Amino acid sequence: MPGLPIDAAIQQSASAKKRQLRAKLAAQPPNGIRSAFREVEKIYLSRNPPPDYSSVIDLHSSQSRPGVNVHQCQPDFRGSITQESIDCGISPSCEIFTLLDHPGLFIIPRAISPRDQRGLIKNCLRKTTKKPNVNNLDTHYVLPDKGLWYHYEQSRQSANHKDIMVQTVAGTNSHRIVEDKSACSRKLITDPAVTIETPIDVLKATKEAPVPSDSVKPEPAADLFYKLRWTNLGLMYHWTSKSYKLEEVFDRGPQTIIPVPADLASLALIVLSAVPPELIPPNEDWSNFRPESGIVNFYQLKNTLMGHVDQSELVENKPLVSLSFGHSAVFLIGGTTRDDKPTAIYLHSGDALIMSGSCRRAYHGVPRVVKNTLPNYLCDMDQWSEDDRADASIEDRNDWHIFSDYLRTTRINVNIRQVFPEGYLDDLGLTNDRKSAI
Ligand code: OGA
Ligand code: MN
Repeated sequence: MPGLPIDAAIQQSASAKKRQLRAKLAAQPPNGIRSAFREVEKIYLSRNPPPDYSSVIDLHSSQSRPGVNVHQCQPDFRGSITQESIDCGISPSCEIFTLLDHPGLFIIPRAISPRDQRGLIKNCLRKTTKKPNVNNLDTHYVLPDKGLWYHYEQSRQSANHKDIMVQTVAGTNSHRIVEDKSACSRKLITDPAVTIETPIDVLKATKEAPVPSDSVKPEPAADLFYKLRWTNLGLMYHWTSKSYKLEEVFDRGPQTIIPVPADLASLALIVLSAVPPELIPPNEDWSNFRPESGIVNFYQLKNTLMGHVDQSELVENKPLVSLSFGHSAVFLIGGTTRDDKPTAIYLHSGDALIMSGSCRRAYHGVPRVVKNTLPNYLCDMDQWSEDDRADASIEDRNDWHIFSDYLRTTRINVNIRQVFPEGYLDDLGLTNDRKSAI
């Protein structure tokens, strides 16, 4: 999972800001020379003047590029997911792209059909953004039980609907703030290098709760929804220490892990199955990939995701599957150090991306969401093509306008990971119902 986004929507506490500044300074070499990753990142972060996008690889255009190879997709439905009702898949006619400079990276443009994209977007907004999943707003706001999206929909359904005001944690629970402030003054957590070999007591250690900001104000639910930046799927991630909350698995058993939603888990497996076996990195076996954790990122047009490596998962030789919806973004993929110059690639709505092999722990980031790139089939229905209209679900006809309104400024990214190596939980004696729980 990544570090905090550059322009996090929620104000952080002073100590969190200091911590971030210190981390930023530490990331810069003492002689002031910026890393190759940062140099490229800066190009696409620029607002004035806007960036020159001409060297961004666009796999939706037929223009051929040196170092970009294309292969035929072979999607397959796995035995392991036949019990789930799979209501979305990927087209067998898709093409898969690989990049000579980034072995282990796979991109499947237009993997997901417009209709399936709409269905998945609806589920992401309606289901993944509410409890028991945790999101970036939970620390600071007392979120409604029905979830913020429910209230967003209500407020858009009728003009005279009075939206609820979402109260702040600081305003409703001053006692907790005082306690948390003292907790905060304790020494900073340094990122633990969590590996399979890490002693069990480290894995079991309780992670400090993030500190609610005392400067945020109550807000109407529909407005607050635009400040949602991420929501956690499956095994919970602890952002401050950049590690998974394994202590809960130890305390209460693996059956307490919330499963990754079935539609996203199935789709991740289908995406992986599309890669021809001969292209899979030699020391990896994707056939038994388990989607154990994930994150849904919500980007407004100004939001970005700084260069980072996803290295908190205990297993290193399993791929990461990433799906993009809504506005297009510039995705930077680099190497194993910040000194490797990254390649800029567009990720458009419906694209699937896989990071595996040496690319699994490569630096990457999203320095730009590109305005005016929302596909017509995600806009209001009057902008759809004849084909899209004919293909629309009954539900789409009724309520898509609410979703399209939110998407006018939004990009959504879902990424799905396996955390534990095969048999890891069994070896720790955590065997109860593992298969049904994860
Ligand atoms: C992440 C990530 C990329 C994207 O969440 O770790 O790298 O395309 N997301 O948004
Ligand atoms: Mn990432």
